[in-house]
Amino acid sequence: MDDIKRGGIAVIDYGSQTTQLIARRIRELGVYTHVFAHDARPEEVDRHQPAGYILSGGPNSVYEPGAPTLSPFMLESGKPILGICYGMQLLTAALGGTVAASASREYGPAQIQQQGESRLFADLAMPQQIWMSHGDRIEELPAGFQTLAHTANSPYAAIGDVARHRYGLQFHPEVGHTPQGRQMLGNFVFEICGCQAKWSAAAFIDDAVARIQAQVGYERVLLALSGGVDSAVAGALIQRAIGERLICVFVDHGMLRQDEAAQVLRVFREERSMRLIAVNAAEEFLDALAGITEPETKRKIIGAQFIETFSREARKLRDLRFLGQGTIYPDVIESAAAGKSARTIKSHHNVGGLPDDLSFELVEPLRDCFKDEVRKIGEALGLPASIVWRQPFPGPGLAIRCLGELSWPRLEKLRRADAIFTGELAEAGLLRAETAQCFAVLLPVKSVGVMGDNRSYEETLALRAVTTDDFMTADWARLPHDLLAKVSARIVNEVAGINRVVYDITSKPPGTIEWE
Ligand code: XMP
Repeated sequence: MDDIKRGGIAVIDYGSQTTQLIARRIRELGVYTHVFAHDARPEEVDRHQPAGYILSGGPNSVYEPGAPTLSPFMLESGKPILGICYGMQLLTAALGGTVAASASREYGPAQIQQQGESRLFADLAMPQQIWMSHGDRIEELPAGFQTLAHTANSPYAAIGDVARHRYGLQFHPEVGHTPQGRQMLGNFVFEICGCQAKWSAAAFIDDAVARIQAQVGYERVLLALSGGVDSAVAGALIQRAIGERLICVFVDHGMLRQDEAAQVLRVFREERSMRLIAVNAAEEFLDALAGITEPETKRKIIGAQFIETFSREARKLRDLRFLGQGTIYPDVIESAAAGKSARTIKSHHNVGGLPDDLSFELVEPLRDCFKDEVRKIGEALGLPASIVWRQPFPGPGLAIRCLGELSWPRLEKLRRADAIFTGELAEAGLLRAETAQCFAVLLPVKSVGVMGDNRSYEETLALRAVTTDDFMTADWARLPHDLLAKVSARIVNEVAGINRVVYDITSKPPGTIEWE
């Protein structure tokens, strides 16, 4: 098997907000990248025989006591190195140059002008816009280095020891505000490191199928299918590897969106002939949640109830050794960064914390994939766009969007209103391109209205639509007023029990995306 990870790039993380972005950008070029903690062991970093190293930015100052240092094995390897921001300063300090605090922080757009020739800037128009964000600056270059580009404020915006393939960028090529950054990274990866573009959805699928077969042998795998992208793609991959030895359990907790359960059954059971056990547990969940209004308590009850329902089904199946999981790469990086075990069960897939009598070996075919890659793999496996491009949906489902006490009639009211909102957005072509997440929230707030000749006194519905890349921060979507007007009119007319619609204009922070 040709290892599609071999000869890629190792990204060394010094704590920048954009480390993952560097890795994603290079993956987009078709080259495997793996993110390592700055103190990772050399054997670990070199496991896939990377063709080069990228040192990320970071919040520290290289001379600060306790600041992360450059592990010498990278310099000793003779392989190409690209340091970005803090990474560049580290490289400079390690090789005998000097770094000092600048009088003023430089943050925001700037223009770079090239100086001399370098493969890093091959075929790039100059001058060009880049994005600066740094406090420290280089005062003196190490021996062998030359300036490759400068800006009005930074005499050393890009530096390199061309003979030894060591480069440094004071700015951030990975962010969207550096429009030609992608090409710079491409030049480093292909021209300087000599990588080949062999990381693709099709190649990944072949590789993953072989790995799953090798891991599982002739045994069976159990997977909790939630209807979300990650578990759906993990399921489709495992099914491709072991066919009907994959057994899926889908728990309908009654808090799914309109037609969601039916769609999961149609796609997976009918169209893909998956062995799928569907459990309708709506009544049990609602009973457990009766009278509960506090958000954290709702979440806890749903988590515990899920484990109970899933465990019951798992026990019926007997002798199962493997549990499939839709864990993806950001979960792995974040849990490793949080100092937890690298083998994390995704809490929002709700199969963490299974009772002791159910111990499984995990099958996690998407552990190395970013979300956009998961979607591409899903497409390549033939999953429908309605599943592959589904927006994130929280594990506790509509329970945390139906504020106050839960009841079946209130959930139905919310489902209908939510379907009108998302349906109109889809029709206007705004569901995928313009909004990262959009949904309705039912509020336990009654207000007076007038319907025909009568006074009404009904509940309020809030509409939430946000734009975001990473869901850590988000802005409210500037949806067209005409669209909001149409949605509002339709909801009040078509959904009994709602007489007022409001639009949430809170960004995150200070708000969160969900209301509970
Ligand atoms: P917040 O509300 O924290 O949400 O801004 C950020 C993102 O996380 C999703 N979310 C969840 N996803 N289980 C999940 O699978 C959960 O319990 C959960 N809570 C929030 C939310 O929809 C948004 O995309």
